[in-house]
Amino acid sequence: MTDRPLHIVTGALGYTGRSVTEQLLARAVRVRTLTNSPNRPNPFGDKLEILPLAFGDPDALARSLEGAEVLYNTYWVRFNHALFTFDRAVASTKILFDAAARAGVGRIVHVSILHARSADDLGYYKGKHELEVALETCGVGHAIVRPGVLFGRGDILVNNIAWVLRHLPLFGTFGDGGYRLRPLHVDDMAALMIDHAHRTGNTHADAVGPEGFEYRELVRTIAGILGVRRAVVPVPAGLGYWVGKLVNPIVKDVVITREEIEGLMRGLLDSDAPGAGNTKLTDWAAEHREQLGRRYASEVGRRVKRDEGYDAI
Ligand SMILES: NC(=O)c1ccc[n+]([C@@H]2O[C@H](COP(=O)([O-])OP(=O)(O)OC[C@H]3O[C@@H](n4cnc5c(N)ncnc54)[C@H](OP(=O)(O)O)[C@@H]3O)[C@@H](O)[C@H]2O)c1
Repeated sequence: MTDRPLHIVTGALGYTGRSVTEQLLARAVRVRTLTNSPNRPNPFGDKLEILPLAFGDPDALARSLEGAEVLYNTYWVRFNHALFTFDRAVASTKILFDAAARAGVGRIVHVSILHARSADDLGYYKGKHELEVALETCGVGHAIVRPGVLFGRGDILVNNIAWVLRHLPLFGTFGDGGYRLRPLHVDDMAALMIDHAHRTGNTHADAVGPEGFEYRELVRTIAGILGVRRAVVPVPAGLGYWVGKLVNPIVKDVVITREEIEGLMRGLLDSDAPGAGNTKLTDWAAEHREQLGRRYASEVGRRVKRDEGYDAI
């Protein structure tokens, strides 16, 4: 037995969960992950305990949470798909919160989305809103951390902007591209989550980075860093969506959804909150310019190739 505190992270072999796990292990915390992808490459070896994220067996789920000081919940689905839906993710997450309450978990640090309560007409936001309310009523002390866009090691949005810039002759922004976003580095996101794990009372934070960009400016900035000359042109949002749809079969993914375009254009990825980390996207992109956007990063690939690491998909 060990007297190190036990922290539980969903999806430690995924994206945000991996950064949280890295930082917890560096603090000599005992870490267990709950995941349905236990065979992904595991950079943590036997320092990481691995158990199933057993939504179908709430009692087993509660047992797997017993003794935990903190549960970090990163679980969510990005869009509705033949293999997964928002409705199922909402129901599953409620099972997780209930299991955590029954198991006596000390605190839940839950990842939501910026402006989760302001866009109930969009399925992603409606689900996130419902889960924030469910968390508040589940009886466990909690923190809600709300990112807009994350970047760094294996991210999707920034990497795939770079991929388009490298592979297509021009870049179309949805509408004029004048809406803003404030990307946060995934390691800064993890540090913010761990910070909120150690606060008292119920807390929440917008997880935004130190730099803000208009979307068109972000695309031009990345093009400049990659050293590619591309026209960045406004296109009607509907046309941009259909161009994405044409690319879907080529990359075997859902490049972007109508809801994601709508959220972006409404400025839902922006916030006036203080920056939650110091890592600048411009510095990080310059440091990784050789690799950035060389491979397309596939959301659906990550869901169906459960034995592979995110960097390879
Ligand atoms: N990445 C961003 O830019 C961004 C921006 C705003 C908000 N967020 C929020 O941040 C949280 C973590 O996102 P992330 O990007 O770090 O994601 P991620 O690691 O790819 O996914 C988190 C975990 O959710 C599970 N999961 C994801 N999609 C699934 C699906 N379709 N079916 C079943 N399980 C699925 C996976 O569990 P298994 O381990 O079981 O496979 C995964 O480990 C989410 O709540 C997301 O909404 C992320």
